[in-house]
Amino acid sequence: MTRAEWNPRELSDLTGRTYVVTGATKGLGFFSCDQLARAGAHVILTGRHPNRLVTARAALVHRVPDASVETLLLDTSKLGSVRAAAATLRARGALDGLLLNAGVVHPPRARETVDGNELVLATNVLGHFALAGELLQPLAAGRGRMVWVGSISTSLWKYDPVDPQLVTGYTPWRAYVQSKIAATALGFEADRRLRATGVPVRSLTAHPGYSMGGRTIGIRGVNEPSRKKRFLANLQAPVTQSKEDGAWSLVRALTDPEAESGDFWGPDRVTRGLPRRAKAAAVTRDPAIAERIWNLCEEATGVRWPFAKAARAAR
Ligand SMILES: NC(=O)c1ccc[n+]([C@@H]2O[C@H](COP(=O)([O-])OP(=O)(O)OC[C@H]3O[C@@H](n4cnc5c(N)ncnc54)[C@H](OP(=O)(O)O)[C@@H]3O)[C@@H](O)[C@H]2O)c1
Repeated sequence: MTRAEWNPRELSDLTGRTYVVTGATKGLGFFSCDQLARAGAHVILTGRHPNRLVTARAALVHRVPDASVETLLLDTSKLGSVRAAAATLRARGALDGLLLNAGVVHPPRARETVDGNELVLATNVLGHFALAGELLQPLAAGRGRMVWVGSISTSLWKYDPVDPQLVTGYTPWRAYVQSKIAATALGFEADRRLRATGVPVRSLTAHPGYSMGGRTIGIRGVNEPSRKKRFLANLQAPVTQSKEDGAWSLVRALTDPEAESGDFWGPDRVTRGLPRRAKAAAVTRDPAIAERIWNLCEEATGVRWPFAKAARAAR
């Protein structure tokens, strides 16, 4: 299937491939799993609540009766949970792809995690940095790829995350946008480092435009928007899309054989549409900023990506 012909509703056969998705209990993570499973892939749904994982798995199997799917507890805001899940996944062998999707947009009142990090940064960035590093060897063994999830908000608010933990000047929105700038910058920095060290793993970034639960099919326990939410979402229909459609860019970055390491994917009409290559905000493409974020992640997580080991293991 060439780029021009890419049809997100009809993916190539992915039988025999294994993908791990964070934040798979609802939203874009759930629909990414749905699309991967429909194409025949084995999908590992991860999430922070056992009950929500059970519900999401049942909903997925209901929608895709022959889905090959399993679940794994993984709270990206807790480094202990990330390490435990990574150990389980490493024991399984090669991986084809890792979708670093879990995210908190509207943070709760508590701002700090058990590890002492700012919650939005921890959930959206630090946990994923640690997880991707911990899974570098299985990804290299599978000649797989990792996909980071960015946001168009990074083009509207171009914060340079000089204070990523937001010790001063915290607002929930700033925390969110900074976390997405950091995640996107890490996607590009990981690409540079993987190439430089000869590790056969691709690092890509994708964004879902503006995807709303209120414009998405209702699924019990997974997507149950109120009538008011649906009404308000439908008013914004010209510039929004469903989470099913929002997952297209993420899934294309994860599975298109022609998608290259360092790519940035998003909807063709920016907030909605078919997945195509897009241009990321300048602040996310600055290697000096990315290196600073990388160093912060190493320090905050204690994880150093095992580039040399992964390159050797893949030979
Ligand atoms: N929707 C958009 O328009 C949009 C735009 C730009 C970027 N994004 C990004 O896309 C990703 C998914 O967004 P979405 O719209 O699908 O959001 P969503 O519907 O709120 O789903 C978020 C998912 O992340 C999970 N999650 C939250 N905190 C977690 C944690 N500590 N550990 C593990 N999982 C956790 C949630 O699990 P629970 O069920 O346990 O809450 C849920 O499964 C996020 O990274 C978001 O920043 C979305």
